[in-house]
Amino acid sequence: MNSQSNLKDIKNFNYGIEKIFDEAQDFLPINGTDYVELYVGNAKQAAHFYKTAFGFQSVAYCGLETGNQEFCSYVVRQDKITLVLTTPYHADHTISEHIKKHGDGVKTIAFWVNDAKQAYQETTQRGAISIMPPKEIQDKEGSVVLATIKTYGDTIHTFVERKNYKGLFLPGFQKWESEYNPPSKGLKYIDHMVGNVELGTMKKWANFYANTMGFANLITFDDKDISTQYTALMSKVMTNGNGRIKFPINEPAQGLKKSQIEEYLDFYGGAGCQHIAVATDDIVFTISEMRKSGVEFLHVPGTYYDTVGKRVGDIAEDLETLKSLGIMVDRDDEGYLLQIFTKPVEDRPTLFFEIIQRKGAKSFGKGNFQALFESIEAEQAKRGTL
Ligand code: FE2
Repeated sequence: MNSQSNLKDIKNFNYGIEKIFDEAQDFLPINGTDYVELYVGNAKQAAHFYKTAFGFQSVAYCGLETGNQEFCSYVVRQDKITLVLTTPYHADHTISEHIKKHGDGVKTIAFWVNDAKQAYQETTQRGAISIMPPKEIQDKEGSVVLATIKTYGDTIHTFVERKNYKGLFLPGFQKWESEYNPPSKGLKYIDHMVGNVELGTMKKWANFYANTMGFANLITFDDKDISTQYTALMSKVMTNGNGRIKFPINEPAQGLKKSQIEEYLDFYGGAGCQHIAVATDDIVFTISEMRKSGVEFLHVPGTYYDTVGKRVGDIAEDLETLKSLGIMVDRDDEGYLLQIFTKPVEDRPTLFFEIIQRKGAKSFGKGNFQALFESIEAEQAKRGTL
């Protein structure tokens, strides 16, 4: 054995040790978000919206034509982000009850794992409520193992083990060939997904992610951090072992008027996903394109940009361009981030999207969180629900 291969073996050995150590610490290794499924009133039209307005591409479909007589699902994808849009065919289906209660919203946040059975066992033995025990499904492209547990409200987590599958999405889906293929708008991956939970339950759900799923608390915002003269919120950001999954959990805080988190809970009919943050490498391009396609964003007060230079220091982007597009900037110890928030993507003031570009910053800017809170409160006042 020559010295070079020795060196390689030593490196592999060390890597192995680190890996075992990491896995021993992390009882729920997650490779990333597998997909997000939304239950919606009209999946065909929702899919068209996400293609046109957000730049997603058609991937797969199931429905009457594929032998599914209960519901149809359209799968759209942009880089690492996969959305599934599902609509039931009949009023007495459980999905119909979900839509009646919540309107359009996130049902499933699915995790890509190497071993779905193990993920299910590790979490349920630590107290997670089972929705579906591990189940293997297959077609000619191979097999997938799925298992599902409950989280806040009617939202669920599905573990997806797809190492023995070569198909486009999941067994039961066929390729969705479309003549309408708008180009990508530069969205890359899901950065984080936020849950709004009932008053007094933030700690319970942060503990659920800590104890049942092995997540850590990255940062906590209290009602003094994020507030206006009328309302406030509290938030705990939970993250998994490799940092690829980040879930801030918000709860309303007591204030003089109704908090925007309470407004969400009223209209959604309980706890649920408040926003999906998606990352881009070029936020100026992404937001220019999304605005051209009709996506509406929250208004950032012009005065925000008067002090932004002082707060965040030097940045590569032109401040006037950011101002014209309504993109916000914030900084932490490691760098800065650029972000912007859409208005709700359905008529109920519930789910919205965030577009984020991280330039070193790994955290969540407190300044922008506050600016977002104020922008939503201004919208809330227009709706007469403050
Ligand atoms: Fe966010």
